[in-house]
Amino acid sequence: MNQDELKKQVAEAAIEYVETGTVIGVGTGSTANYFIDALARIKGRIEGTVASSVASADRLKSHGIAVMDLNQAGQLSVYVDGADEVDDYLHLIKGGGGALTREKIVAGASDKFVCICDESKLVKVLGTFPLPIEVIPMAQSYVARELVKFGGRPELRQGFTTDNGNIILDVRDLEILEPGKLESELNNIPGIVTVGIFANRPADVLLLGTGKGVETRSAP
Ligand code: 5RP
Repeated sequence: MNQDELKKQVAEAAIEYVETGTVIGVGTGSTANYFIDALARIKGRIEGTVASSVASADRLKSHGIAVMDLNQAGQLSVYVDGADEVDDYLHLIKGGGGALTREKIVAGASDKFVCICDESKLVKVLGTFPLPIEVIPMAQSYVARELVKFGGRPELRQGFTTDNGNIILDVRDLEILEPGKLESELNNIPGIVTVGIFANRPADVLLLGTGKGVETRSAP
């Protein structure tokens, strides 16, 4: 199976976690897109969705799936989304698609976070994938200098503005040995909106697409 087939396979497996009559959170990216397409087949079973990006909201609506405002929806039963890296503790790096802030909000507002990934995303130590960080534009240079003090090599994601009107710095060379600690420390830098480490609220379930089928892992 190629990577797209593995993504589709885990996205379809995640349908099992959709609870009838509830509002669910929906992530962003190519794996999440396969989930949206699968969700279309059972859309009558759910009350609605909250999307983590404008792009996902548009795709959901194109399938006739109701998209709600998180403030109206309240607590969500489940959040389904992909990741750029995942470790054995279900800590994640996210934000390759630039939607990390809304993704972290929707994950936080959900009872369960189901992460859907192909096996290429599984790592022992997070940090090979450049860490996306959403930053208020006026703080770009200051935040970049602070990130260098952490040993990182920040680069502006060119020509990209987030759904919240901010920039993304992609940070290379961070070996993330203590993800929860680094997430909290970076979150304290003024001007940083969201760090793409999801460790303080990790995934609860990982559906990993492998050549031998879908492997289900729970947070240890
Ligand atoms: C978007 C994300 C995505 O979940 C992540 O980039 C994985 O994307 P894909 O499913 O296309 O591999 O965090 O901000």
